[in-house]
Amino acid sequence: MSEKNDKQNASSSPQSQQWSPESYQKNAAFVAELGLPLLDLLRPVPGERILDLGCGDGVLTEKLAKICEVVGVDASPEQVQGAQAFGLNAQVMSGEALTFDQEFDAVFSNAALHWMLNPDSVIRGVRQALKPQGRFVAEFGGFGNVAAIREALERELGRRGIDGAGLSPWYFPAPDEYRGRLEAEGFAVEDMELFDRPTPLPGDVTGWLQTFGESYLSAVPDEERDDFLTAVREALRPVICGEDGVWMADYVRLRFAARLQA
Ligand code: BEZ
Repeated sequence: MSEKNDKQNASSSPQSQQWSPESYQKNAAFVAELGLPLLDLLRPVPGERILDLGCGDGVLTEKLAKICEVVGVDASPEQVQGAQAFGLNAQVMSGEALTFDQEFDAVFSNAALHWMLNPDSVIRGVRQALKPQGRFVAEFGGFGNVAAIREALERELGRRGIDGAGLSPWYFPAPDEYRGRLEAEGFAVEDMELFDRPTPLPGDVTGWLQTFGESYLSAVPDEERDDFLTAVREALRPVICGEDGVWMADYVRLRFAARLQA
């Protein structure tokens, strides 16, 4: 995938993803587990009020709620229902249209910002949500994320006469690009890191594709979908499945901590 492609994704409008809490818990429990180190970068303290942006089913929100006051937002009503079922303060709200006004000490986000294709709207909403000197601490898919998976999807779509190039629902920026966007909105970047994090999957890659790849799968006629999934899985086997049979998604993370300037 070229950098140009990754940047183009920021303005495309692919089919939005529907979330099934059951499928998410089965195929994506690792998302919250692997997000734990981000809490260390956030360093929440009692008495703080924190916004969890893209809280999903609330697993990390719940950890934060043990330390401070936390509000979770997510665009998916199904995920928000799951978070509310834990007794969390969660509401349905798009990260690209936040409506808070200088009320949080920090905004936290794990594995969510790559689903928001208008990063400047997100950063502006975060700026407005924060008190002066507030922190924005996040981790999401960075430049090159799941490149092997995306390539296999696009190649297999191409074989079926479907142009998959514009179907990515994700925004995976390079550090310099995202730093520039943060600085343009008045943040000072205190920490920023792009790193590979090969991620073991709970089964083969099919579960991952079914959970996260709706934008690609919905481009394939229903009657061809199983065959398509099998073809993508087999194309990926030599690339991301180890000799031990463990499938590793080729995740690349962009992690940062930024502070709003006065
Ligand atoms: C990620 O966390 O990097 C990710 C998750 C699902 C789809 C694409 C990327």
